[in-house]
Amino acid sequence: MTRQARKLEHLWHAVRSEMRNADFSDINLVNNCLPETAICALDLSTRAAGLKLSRPVFINAITGGVEESDSINRELALVAKECSLPFAVGSQMAALENPHYSKTFEVVRDAYPDGVVFANIGAYADPDMARRAVEMVRADALQVHLNVPQELMMAEGDSDFRGYIRRIEKIVGAVGVPVVVKEVGFGIAREQAAILKGIGVAAIDVGGKGGTNFMQIERRRAHLKTNEDLTEWGIPTAIALLEAASGAPGVDIIASGGVNTGLLAAKALALGASAVGIAGLAVKILLSEGAEALIARLRNIECELKTVMVMTGANSIDELRSVPVVITGKTREWLEARGIKK
Ligand SMILES: Cc1cc2nc3c(=O)[nH]c(=O)nc-3n(C[C@H](O)[C@H](O)[C@H](O)COP(=O)(O)O)c2cc1C
Repeated sequence: MTRQARKLEHLWHAVRSEMRNADFSDINLVNNCLPETAICALDLSTRAAGLKLSRPVFINAITGGVEESDSINRELALVAKECSLPFAVGSQMAALENPHYSKTFEVVRDAYPDGVVFANIGAYADPDMARRAVEMVRADALQVHLNVPQELMMAEGDSDFRGYIRRIEKIVGAVGVPVVVKEVGFGIAREQAAILKGIGVAAIDVGGKGGTNFMQIERRRAHLKTNEDLTEWGIPTAIALLEAASGAPGVDIIASGGVNTGLLAAKALALGASAVGIAGLAVKILLSEGAEALIARLRNIECELKTVMVMTGANSIDELRSVPVVITGKTREWLEARGIKK
């Protein structure tokens, strides 16, 4: 199967799949009955990967490199512009191998010339490819994605992952923009976060379990008969945030993987995330209900986030990152077993 056909199937499955939210039920925020704050006075700006962002929520990597993605990327970029959100393009590997597909990414800069835009490549790319990906969209930062379980589930996927650390290190040294290493739904643990810190990545997007499930999507695409329990593989998003933060202190941590509501975004930020990425929900709403519906949903998420900020007494994202958080249940047990403290 060609890469193009696969990308179309991913879009199709993402739109058809039931939307799942990450499980943050063990993460409890505490009501502040005397908040010295007001909705109109909230500061939503944040910093991630060394970039100043006017909003903490962004549209995470989805598509590009297939004819249909031209209009999808343009519309997503216009939505991001309307809501003043950063925007990450999908993997540019197809365009790096065949320049015909570059236009499906370049449309993003035409639509959103002043926006914060992330380029995106796989960890097997070389520094020259990384530089070209950044130039293609005049990116402010570069995402390098990791998706080992997905590759292993794909009939046509990779099965040899040696050398990624060295490759990412070379990319970090070559691109001239901050590098964000991201998972796509299986989470990043403390040990690998520490390695990523050691090779100089600017931010870690934990891409935890709980939202879009690429093992499930690949299983369905290939009509695999493997047991379904394998598709529950991964580190849940809330836990991955704490794992990555403990392994890479001082590195910005980005939350993604089913962070689809304002309350979940607030909890992720309160756990220490600098920003929150949303992918599956965004493309599902765009393709099934249209751009206006997506704008409305993103505004609703921001509105909920502001509500929670006031209820916790946080005036800014920075303050939200240090409100009291009570961690209970299985999440607490996991953290204790791993010796991780919030
Ligand atoms: C249709 C689709 C295509 C995706 N393609 C890419 C990609 O090309 N590169 C990448 O880094 N992540 C890709 N992702 C993963 C997302 O960026 C994100 O990490 C993952 O879906 C988890 O977030 P979510 O639960 O908000 O969807 C894709 C996600 C979807 C739904």
